[in-house]
Amino acid sequence: MTKVGMIVGSLRKESYSKKVAKLLAELLPEDFEAVFIPLDELAIYNQDFDDEGNVPAAWTQFREQAKQLDAVIFVTPEYNRSVPAVLKNALDIGSRPYGHSVWDQKPAAVVSVSPGKLSGFGANHHLRQSLVFLNMPIMQQPEAYIGEIGQLLDETGRYQNPEQTQAFFQTIVDGFVNWTKQNLSK
Ligand SMILES: Cc1cc2nc3c(=O)[nH]c(=O)nc-3n(C[C@H](O)[C@H](O)[C@H](O)COP(=O)(O)O)c2cc1C
Repeated sequence: MTKVGMIVGSLRKESYSKKVAKLLAELLPEDFEAVFIPLDELAIYNQDFDDEGNVPAAWTQFREQAKQLDAVIFVTPEYNRSVPAVLKNALDIGSRPYGHSVWDQKPAAVVSVSPGKLSGFGANHHLRQSLVFLNMPIMQQPEAYIGEIGQLLDETGRYQNPEQTQAFFQTIVDGFVNWTKQNLSK
């Protein structure tokens, strides 16, 4: 079983990004298991906590969960043309202590979600910049910029037009599954 972390850059109860992550997880094949990793309890990264052995329990739990993953799908909104702080914070926590990053070599996909037309392009590429440094092989194609999300999902988070939208989401998941298999076999 390949364990796929679903990491979402929004804490909002009714988050579109959470809804998209759930729909993507449903489309994974049977030999892939989606593991949703919540970011709600993560205190802002402070290197003193690591250096002084005063590590918050939520950081330890997050690092342990992330270590178990084979691959990661990041689903994120865009905040002020960049990555929401909560997601950047999770990347930072997982990347330390130095030399013990939980992210190293894990295949990843980036999906940006926005109610607007620009589809979170800025967040998508700022996130890719960090993932390159973290040595995560990032799926190149298909790129996943999901704009005008309010028109794609209904109030319960299901597809308004499954033929089009589910089919598009399936291409993202299929690409990610292939990408993960290729990279894990290296
Ligand atoms: C602080 C803040 C900054 C935002 N900046 C952007 C932005 O740069 N681009 C964009 O498309 N939407 C922006 N938005 C709107 C979000 O896309 C919208 O609130 C979206 O629903 C958030 O994602 P979520 O539904 O997953 O929580 C911003 C929202 C907030 C709260």
